[in-house]
Amino acid sequence: MIPDQLELAVVIPTFNERANVPLLIEKLDAALAGRNWEAIFVDDNSPDGTADAARELGRRDSRVRVIQRIGRRGLSSACIEGMCATAAPFVAVIDGDLQHDETLLPGMLDALEGDSTLDVVIGSRFVDGGGTGEWDEERVAKSALATRLSRRVLKADLSDPMSGFFTMRTQIVRDLVPTLSAIGFKILLDIMTASPKPLKFLELPYVFRTRALGESKLDYVVAMEYLIALYDRMFGRVVPVRFVMFSGIGALGAGVHFLILALFFRGLNWPFVGATILATAAAMTFNFFLNNALTYREQRLKGAKSLLGGWVSFCLVCSVGAAANVGVAAFLHNVQHGDWRFAALAGIAVAAVWNFALSSRFVWG
Ligand code: GDD
Ligand code: MN
Repeated sequence: MIPDQLELAVVIPTFNERANVPLLIEKLDAALAGRNWEAIFVDDNSPDGTADAARELGRRDSRVRVIQRIGRRGLSSACIEGMCATAAPFVAVIDGDLQHDETLLPGMLDALEGDSTLDVVIGSRFVDGGGTGEWDEERVAKSALATRLSRRVLKADLSDPMSGFFTMRTQIVRDLVPTLSAIGFKILLDIMTASPKPLKFLELPYVFRTRALGESKLDYVVAMEYLIALYDRMFGRVVPVRFVMFSGIGALGAGVHFLILALFFRGLNWPFVGATILATAAAMTFNFFLNNALTYREQRLKGAKSLLGGWVSFCLVCSVGAAANVGVAAFLHNVQHGDWRFAALAGIAVAAVWNFALSSRFVWG
């Protein structure tokens, strides 16, 4: 007898997994026979039509639901949105590419239902009986490195904090949402490190399957996002990640400025003011595009019109920043008679904070 109340939501983040959608639902249907469950696909507007494939199933099977996010990307943030979109008391996260072993789900659910002190049950590749399947040496080494790095933020003795396969009480994640970083791929690590009280967990072994259809989305950007997420956990509250990226890009922009200035003033004998104006414009343009691609990649401006508008407002914001820079530096140097290096640094710092605060609001807000 299937219980009359919804027990479990299975959240499935997807990007270009069209071929896997029907297979996964078939597997869930078999694995969760006798349970009352729903599946929530959270698709980031995959070009291959994954969301359409899922909706197609949903029309015949009301257990299948779809959240289609437009203009957003990100595995962790997709999982969070899916987990918040259910009325079920328990929620699982599983990959959409059949690499996780869905036959673990009933056992995960039983463990949570049988022990009210238990918060989360994790599918682990690194406890007895688990494994990474057909991974090559390189991937094993990279995963081991990522796991070792995670120990810097993780207090709990988890064997597989990189796992993206787990089941937990929905209310716990709902309460944690404001403190999640939601960056990158590692949603479990995010949850485990966000909780003020250590979460009680249980690990069940599974063997990571080989992907049969579609392609992995793990690339160097994902690796970079992982490092950013770790930074965010360690120091994000003191100095926000975005400010660090914005300032780093600003420093690169200063390099561009010097390069152009050297080229036109020294190399081509332009007047200093003319070469400086050109160098400033080049550096601002460089900074605008790099920030758009990296710092604000989640709300990236696209299309000629919004890029042009963004560029103009960025240049306006930065011009005021530059004026503030000159004003502060001149005040400290000429009026306060401060050291010229200190005056220059203070001017730069004020401009950086100004540019960051205003552009985050008026350019990418
Ligand atoms: N919505 C959404 N948005 N889904 C995404 C995105 C995204 O930007 N990127 C990837 N996904 C989906 C994929 O479609 C797939 O269903 C799942 O997330 C995992 O992505 P893969 O590209 O297959 O990654 P993987 O196999 O390398 O990594 C997985 O295995 C790790 C174990 O090492 C992830 O599940 C990790 O969380 C897991 O820890
Ligand atoms: Mn995968």
